[in-house]
Amino acid sequence: MNLFNVYPLFEIHPVKGEGCYVYDDQETKYLDLYGGHAVISIGHSHPHYVNKITTQLQNLGFYSNSVQNKLQKELAQKLGKLSSCEDYHLFLCNSGAEANENALKLASFHNGKTKIIAFKKGFHGRTSAAVNVTDKATIQAPINKTFKAEYHELNHIESVESSLKQGDVCAVIIEGIQGIGGIEIPTTEFLEQLATLCKKYNAILILDEIQSGYGRSGHFFAFQKANITPDLITIAKGMGNGFPIGGVLIHPKFEAKYGLLGTTFGGNHLACAAGLSVLEVLEKENLIEHSKNLGDYFLHQLKTIEGIQEVRGSGLMIGLEFDFPIKELRKQLLFEEKIFTGSSSNPNVMRLLPPLNIQKEQIDFFIKKLTTVVKTYLAIHT
Ligand SMILES: Cc1ncc(COP(=O)(O)O)c(C=O)c1O
Repeated sequence: MNLFNVYPLFEIHPVKGEGCYVYDDQETKYLDLYGGHAVISIGHSHPHYVNKITTQLQNLGFYSNSVQNKLQKELAQKLGKLSSCEDYHLFLCNSGAEANENALKLASFHNGKTKIIAFKKGFHGRTSAAVNVTDKATIQAPINKTFKAEYHELNHIESVESSLKQGDVCAVIIEGIQGIGGIEIPTTEFLEQLATLCKKYNAILILDEIQSGYGRSGHFFAFQKANITPDLITIAKGMGNGFPIGGVLIHPKFEAKYGLLGTTFGGNHLACAAGLSVLEVLEKENLIEHSKNLGDYFLHQLKTIEGIQEVRGSGLMIGLEFDFPIKELRKQLLFEEKIFTGSSSNPNVMRLLPPLNIQKEQIDFFIKKLTTVVKTYLAIHT
């Protein structure tokens, strides 16, 4: 059987990872500034992560959600404490799309409405409701378009308000920082106005922190720069450092009922062990503060490179906008300099999403290589 061919692949075969590096089958070492789509939070194969998952697997890998699982409670408590969201309740699932799917369902169960406001360039996943609020028509099948979704400009509160005023909006979904869209950042003022208006017009505010959460932005959640209390917060990616796990943080105003949500695999023992070990390392190694400090340093150093039109970001979630497509630069960095970087839906924007325990020397190394690669590119093309 052949694989269903949906991914354009680089001819690289990673077989090992350690910290901020991955190694291919020829033992070539790559600096990973992309974390496999923003997934690697505490570094590849962190020893605590490996030990905790291994030990758990030796005891019990899985049992269903029909029995008590104290690991789920431990995970919820630790997450509540580290994120300062202790009042919320946690529903565990397996991926980012699934987290958003459940959040959108909860919103609609709660107020009975169906229209969703989302934002241009936003991405929320590929399951049915999640993809219908994702601003990319080519990945929406006719079967996904079962409710009205409106896409507004990020940071333009007037158009959002005029829509909310109609009273038929079920929820507003917004990324803490837009990732795939090219590191577009909602302003603090916009987030605060959005929260106020959602309350006023009885719409649920869903913060998608799947990419921007878990310390990546230098806060536990990117929205926490603002003084807001979202109704629902969705998480995945960095939560499991590569182990598939996602979740929805649910404000206490939502009432739980048996059978309202459910999943076979969500919250299984192995996933909880992975999730707990990530939180333990984030706490022990102070990685959120580290992400803020190293992110500030990274942004500052990037701004010294000539040829980059705009450097933007928060913590270790960084976008570099050029006035030309970055495809060639990324290939050069990957194949010549052995550095992974990310693309975005904007062909001119490179994304940097390194493991949160990246070190200053690794940033300096990248700055040196990027400076040369950009200089060479500009010399050839201008
Ligand atoms: C902001 C955001 N939301 C949701 C998703 C979907 O997550 P998953 O691929 O785990 O379904 C992604 C994935 O890139 C994302 O970046």
